[in-house]
Amino acid sequence: MCGIAGYVGDKDAQGVLLKSLSRMEYRGYDSAGIAVIEDRRMFVAKKKGKLKVLADELCPNQIKGTTGIGHSRWATHGVPSDANAHPHCDCKGKIAVVHNGIIENYLELKSSLKREGHKFISETDTEVIAHLIEKFYSGDITEAVRKAIKLLHGSYAIAVIHKDEQGKIVGARLDSPLIVGLGKGENFIASDVPAILDYTHKVIYLDNNDVVTITKDSVAIQNITGRIIHRKPSVIKWNISQAEKCGYKHFMLKEIFEQGDVVEKIIDERIRDGRVEFDELKIKESDFRRIKNITIVACGTAYHAGLTGKYVIEEHAKIPCTVDTSSEFRYRNPVVTKDTLVIIVSQSGETADSLAALREAKRRGCVVLAICNVLGSSIAREANGVIYTHAGPEIAVASTKAYTAQLAIFYLVTFYIARIRKTVSPSGLKALIREFKKCAALMNELLGEYRSGYNMLAAYAQEFKKYYHLKHNKSYFLYLARNVNYPNALEGALKLKEISYISAEGYPAGEMKHGPIALIDENPWVVCIAVKSKTYDKMLSNIQEIKARGGIMIVIVTEGDKEIMHHNVNYVIEIPSVEELFSPLLVVIPLQLLAYYVALEFGYDIDQPRNLAKSVTVE
Ligand code: AGP
Repeated sequence: MCGIAGYVGDKDAQGVLLKSLSRMEYRGYDSAGIAVIEDRRMFVAKKKGKLKVLADELCPNQIKGTTGIGHSRWATHGVPSDANAHPHCDCKGKIAVVHNGIIENYLELKSSLKREGHKFISETDTEVIAHLIEKFYSGDITEAVRKAIKLLHGSYAIAVIHKDEQGKIVGARLDSPLIVGLGKGENFIASDVPAILDYTHKVIYLDNNDVVTITKDSVAIQNITGRIIHRKPSVIKWNISQAEKCGYKHFMLKEIFEQGDVVEKIIDERIRDGRVEFDELKIKESDFRRIKNITIVACGTAYHAGLTGKYVIEEHAKIPCTVDTSSEFRYRNPVVTKDTLVIIVSQSGETADSLAALREAKRRGCVVLAICNVLGSSIAREANGVIYTHAGPEIAVASTKAYTAQLAIFYLVTFYIARIRKTVSPSGLKALIREFKKCAALMNELLGEYRSGYNMLAAYAQEFKKYYHLKHNKSYFLYLARNVNYPNALEGALKLKEISYISAEGYPAGEMKHGPIALIDENPWVVCIAVKSKTYDKMLSNIQEIKARGGIMIVIVTEGDKEIMHHNVNYVIEIPSVEELFSPLLVVIPLQLLAYYVALEFGYDIDQPRNLAKSVTVE
């Protein structure tokens, strides 16, 4: 998604803006630009391509102004091009605007503005905002922005400057994140925390319909009607080094290897004297006692975490649980009531479909719990209660540590509800918590083996690449699993396809005979999750059926499995022995690493895969 940055203070704005934009590159983008005011003149530079292209364009002639805005664009309306890159200006080049979101009524506004004589030079929806502000401007940029945004339908986070009002930036937001960074003798505006962490840890999370005017010494917030608003600052607890690679080749690899520590930290924070506690949770225990059913709603990897949560909740909290993708839930007229607990899972807390699903659930009177990783995010703030995963910043577009952190929270929420509703005895809960802690420790042990020892997954990835070309690029992956690891089959497939662009599909193994087995010939590589479980023998049958048809298999088993060697599979991966219910926390690690090493073999941009964004803040 697009990145917004803004600076006002005594430093050269150009340097600060380029630094801030570089901290948001992980979000995915296709062009970048800045606008800086110097001696009441507006300088705009914007280029298609990576930030380096813009920096190279700028470096010989540094712009000296101390007020500026910047943007990294993820194209929604109009192809990636210099003209469509932000900032966008009014007819006279006096106003510059950067925007994240979608203006749904931009064509209607554009026609009306054209009829009034405004000239447009881009295909974007954003340019309409610049001309609207121009239309309403009569000496007060804040007033003009307030009038302009009243006509906008859709979502927006914007930053605006006017060349006659040097030293001032105006920001506004609706359904797209925007924060203010509070410095000493300088202030910042941005769409994401990493953009400002080099300069300050003190932030204000703006809310919908907030209009903020910042100077180097002041921050004034009003709502869309002009009423003064007070927002309490927050302090960001993590530092920018956590948003750096620390020696790893990619953020994704670093975040894969952080998972054991993240889950152990969650356990340390959330389990006190053998009891699960969620300090920040504002939902009463009586609500958890009262609810009759649970619906989990999320997108992508978070959806897969929700699917796993269903198995865990139904196993021990004994509450009927459905799982929906946010984009389906929000439009399908779901049967949910005040007796439904809706759990919205979102790493970023800004996914547009998940935010809309949350609002739909609240509109229907449900109790809404959010499981989020980003403090103060929209979903976290709008839910009735939030549980933060505290996984630290997840920079890679492909979600890994957020996923296992979400799984960990689902186990803990289940224990929490089971205690309240007495569906598990105190001794039973103690045993579950003991097994859960053991599993978390085993995550670090398994990661340690991959970090230090011979990495068979990298070798398998090399084998696959050779095979892929041998088969004239016709090979692809099928992931099969049963029961609580079935969501991991989906997650393993998603990881692979989103960073290696190779077709991959996850399937419940029991469905093979209902169609997918027709795919099996010598082309697909089939990843079978066959850890110690009540359906292990069924998985062995699937493996035999695949072998009989020439399929190549990577099989994940529990260490010490003596049976698998009799099935002559191509590759075997072992994970430490744990109760099946907790095995997803371990099984997903080789799946993530396999995807990583395949993408590495194919030489793709692992942290910023093509067409993808870290947080999908538009529909
Ligand atoms: C996962 O690797 C993807 N990046 C994507 O599916 C992601 O999980 C999805 O967009 C949901 O994001 P969220 O958790 O921030 O809501």
